Amino acid sequence: MSDSTPSPKKIWNPTVISIEGLYVNRSGKLVLENIDLEIDKGEFVGIVGPNGGGKTTLLMTILGILNSTKGKIEVFGFNPYPTNFRGEVGWVSQTAANIPTKMRMTVRELITMGTVSRIELFPSRSKKKRERIEKAMELTGISHLADKDIARLSGGERQRAVIGRALASDAEVLIFDEPLVNVDRNARNGILKLLDKLCHEQEKTLLLVSHDMAAIRQSAHRVVYLDGSIQYDGHPDNLPDLIDLAGLRGIKHVHQTDDQEEE
Ligand SMILES: Nc1ncnc2c1ncn2[C@@H]1O[C@H](COP(=O)(O)OP(=O)(O)OP(=O)(O)O)[C@@H](O)[C@H]1O
Ligand SMILES: [Mg+2]
Repeated sequence: MSDSTPSPKKIWNPTVISIEGLYVNRSGKLVLENIDLEIDKGEFVGIVGPNGGGKTTLLMTILGILNSTKGKIEVFGFNPYPTNFRGEVGWVSQTAANIPTKMRMTVRELITMGTVSRIELFPSRSKKKRERIEKAMELTGISHLADKDIARLSGGERQRAVIGRALASDAEVLIFDEPLVNVDRNARNGILKLLDKLCHEQEKTLLLVSHDMAAIRQSAHRVVYLDGSIQYDGHPDNLPDLIDLAGLRGIKHVHQTDDQEEE
């Protein structure tokens, strides 16, 4: 008898991040308003929006670095609080690749730093940990640079190295804030391929903030347009034109005629 029931692995798609009616203030100013967002395991979500639209604020709230003023936010069923995660959420910040070049450190040492936050019974040089470090370098294509000084890496190599550091933590959720800035076209495509691979082969949940709309369309399964509140959440192919999105928040086109103005 053939069994047409999908395997439990396929139908079991637990919610990893659950946000309902979330408001976040920064220095007394409302930055995020009424955010509803559910992200399941294995999803690859692109987050786009204008400068100051609150993308980094949202990521920092998910990470438990910023507190919400109202609403519900849960990551793996818990209120975000950095120590709750025990290494389950990895973050590559907007400025992560700006590693101080005066710092003398090899690529392998940098990747090793990614394993430090994870709570382990034997945090010293366990075999598992060494394997994670080597695997992270292999996945990001930087194994051949392992003993190179980070100061001597190109922008793209450095970006891959900071992604490798996040991977070495073995995190289930990986959050990237503008990982493609200062990265040339080849390296950019390599990084996007890598993210795709992490999602499909390792079932990682990915959140990618980028101004590179082409990159988001090319890689993410779902896109969220954030401008204080969520203006769009859906398939990248159906993302309305940016002008339509501006219209949603009441911005008038600069070339609008007086007639249109009066309507
Ligand atoms: N430390 C802070 N204190 C007060 N307000 C802040 C702080 N950091 C950011 N903001 C404000 O919060 C709002 C959202 O900023 P945020 O950095 O989340 O935007 P973003 O979408 O990530 O922008 P960008 O695309 O430029 O990275 C902006 O109005 C910004 O001025
Ligand atoms: Mg930002």
